[in-house]
Parts: sequence; C-alpha cells; structure tokens
Amino acid sequence: MKDEITNLRAQVVAQIEASSDLAEIENIRANYLGKNGKLTKLVKRINEVPKEEKKEVGLLINETKNTILAILSQQKNDLKETSRIWFDPTIPGKKPQTGSLHLMTQAIEEVANIFTKIGFVRMRYPEVEWDYFAFEALNFDHDHPARDEWETFFVDASAHPKLGKMLLTPHTSNGQVREMLRVKTPPVRMINIAKCYRRQSDASHYPMFHQFEGLVVDEGISIAHLKGTVDYFMTAFYGEDRQARLRPYNFPFTEPSFEIDISCDICSGRGCKVCKEGWLELGGAGMVHPNVLRHGGIDPVKYSGFAFGWGVERVMMMKPGLGINDLRTIYSTDLRYLKQF
Ligand code: PHE
Repeated sequence: MKDEITNLRAQVVAQIEASSDLAEIENIRANYLGKNGKLTKLVKRINEVPKEEKKEVGLLINETKNTILAILSQQKNDLKETSRIWFDPTIPGKKPQTGSLHLMTQAIEEVANIFTKIGFVRMRYPEVEWDYFAFEALNFDHDHPARDEWETFFVDASAHPKLGKMLLTPHTSNGQVREMLRVKTPPVRMINIAKCYRRQSDASHYPMFHQFEGLVVDEGISIAHLKGTVDYFMTAFYGEDRQARLRPYNFPFTEPSFEIDISCDICSGRGCKVCKEGWLELGGAGMVHPNVLRHGGIDPVKYSGFAFGWGVERVMMMKPGLGINDLRTIYSTDLRYLKQF
C-alpha cells in the first residue's frame, strides 16, 4: 500500500508538470482526487492495512493529497501567467510624428512679416482671375506673349462680357488694380502673396509658384522709395552680405521698369545651373504706369507709385546655407527632404 501511494504520487506529479492547459489540469484532478479517482480509491482500501501501519499510511495519504493539491494550484497559476499579455514598460515607445510648416509657408510668413513691419497690408487676390486684371488693366498689348497659350493657363469657361477670359493668374500683379479699387484714395501699401501659374518647368521654374507683390501709391513716391524698400528687404531677409542690383527692363505696367537681381548664394557669383551668370533674377519692379493708376481710379497727376513682384521660391532658394539647387525639389513629397526644414 505504501509503495502504491508513493508510485501514484510520482505519476501524478509528472503528469501535472507536463500539463499545458487548464482543462488538462482539471482532468488530472478528477482522475486522482475525484469520486472515483485513484487516490480516493486507495483511501477506501485503508481497512486492508494492518492495524499498526494504519496511522502511518493515513498520514502518507493526507500528505500526498495535499501535495497533489498544492502542485495542481501552482501549475494552474503558472499557466495563467504565461498566457497573459505582458506589458513591458522598458520597450521604447512609438513616437508620434510631429508635423512642421512647409518651407514655402515659412517663407511666406517671413516675407509677410518683413513688409507688414513697415506698414504694408497683407492681401490675397484671386488666383483664378479674369484677363482684365491680369493683363488688360495692366496695359498689356493684345499681342503680348504672356497673353497667349504659351505662358498662361486658360480656364475652359465662358468669357466675361467685360473682363474677358478666365485664367490662372501668371503673376500677383493682378492684385494691383484690384487693391487700388478697394482702397480708392491713396495711400496704398499692399503686399499681395499668392500662387501663380505658368506653363514652364526646369531647375528654376515650376508651373505653380508663389509671388509677393508690393504696391505703394501716394503723393510724391519716387524711385528712391522703391530702391529703399528693396534694400530694406534684402537686409532683413538675407543679411548684409548679399548684393542687389537694379537692371533696366521693360514691363507694360511700369515706367521706368527694372529687373531686381541678387548675387547667387550657391555659386557666390561665379555662375551655376540655377543662376547661369552669378546673379539670380528675383523679379520685376518699377514705377506704376499712369494707365494702370487710371484703371485703378487714381489720378496719375496727383499720385505716383512703385510696384515689385518677386518669386517666393526664388528668394527662399537664395538664402545662405539652404543649398536648394533645383526649385522642383521644394514640392517634393518626400518627408525625408521636407523634415529638414
Ligand atoms: N508681374 C511681373 C512678373 O511676374 C513682376 C513685376 C511686378 C514687375 C511689379 C513690375 C512691377 O514678372
């Protein structure tokens, strides 16, 4: 009897240790400790044991039963724990992505701040525009190349009886006459920053780009005011070491007209893929043509003004240290590129 009990105990311990789920454990318990369980049956046979051994065998049975119960519950707990999903606080977490303003948005804000500081009013005029504001009111000839399909995107919509064809504005100068009509009586001090569209694409041109248009109209405005404003912007935006130059040019809506150039940051004036000859053309400027003032309802005898319109992408590309040598990369959707700014 004693041997039987010891064997049974060894058996049940081995079975419990090998068990791998809770149902198996319950089976083992029933097999040994249940109503017809093996240990239960042994207990029923206690009368077969000689009197002098009874006490000893009784103790052995009790001890065996307790051992089995203890191991069963231990194994139950172990199985429960391994099946639990563990939370390990030492594993590094996933960082949420932090967004940032696009390089162009930053540039637009910077430009706007520089001009609003000296009294310019930030405006935005339509990007889908009528021929009248983009060309006609700006004194463009009917056969001016910018007016044909080559440079301008026309919208497939019926023309306005007075304002002509619908188009995507190729420059922010469309805001000039609109602003004069809005203000009515000078002074006018506008900075219009908006998207522009032209049929062009190479290292320094993109079909969609941004311009900022300055317009000042008041009594006694001269080229000196234009030059002073250009110099102020150059210093504020680039610092003291970049050079600007005014080159005589021609625009239908300014007289006289200039092209404003800045020394190239990429090649420091030697000439490269972007600037070609050491200077990068920022854009045009000039004294507002009397016909344009008239279209804006302003008397050109009493008032004069200057205007300039430059590409935001271009002024940004010329910032020291940015080293953007292809304008098209600014509109890349590659986050590895965009995250640098
Ligand atoms: N609108 C001209 C352009 O797109 C630039 C310009 C603006 C020139 C204002 C003179 C005055 O090139």
